[in-house]
Amino acid sequence: MSHSLSAEQKAELEAWRTYYPYPIMGLLEALRCVQGWFRCVPPEVEPHLAELFSTSVAHVHEVATFFPFLTRKPAGRHRVGICRGLSCAMAGSKDISRCLEKSLGAREGETSPDGRFSWEEMECLGACDHAPALLVDERLKGKATEEAVAKLAENLK
Ligand code: FES
Repeated sequence: MSHSLSAEQKAELEAWRTYYPYPIMGLLEALRCVQGWFRCVPPEVEPHLAELFSTSVAHVHEVATFFPFLTRKPAGRHRVGICRGLSCAMAGSKDISRCLEKSLGAREGETSPDGRFSWEEMECLGACDHAPALLVDERLKGKATEEAVAKLAENLK
């Protein structure tokens, strides 16, 4: 798969460079764009970002590998996260994880063979009072049940 940037994509990244008072502040948003376009942050994009944001390739790489929502391998079209924090663990998040693996057809941190889903365990999502907390395509869903998780694959095209 080609990971070269189109003129439109380069223009969008440039817009993030000038959006904040300090150009480097736009790097994370630029990386989010790249993740959205390619479903991952390909290493070959890092030099372009480094030049654009006047930083080193190593720094871009550090940021790109720090946040769980930025991936090195292509993520699924739909991304699901289950919280493994204490409140959620006590509320049965491990059972939800087992259910995710079975219903989405992928192991934790992997993408389903058809490219539709990937899922991962995450640290506290800030919704401890709605444990176990589930994140579906960046939307928070509290009080996850095995029944609801089993329907995810049907409901997400
Ligand atoms: S521990 Fe799961 S949302 Fe806080």
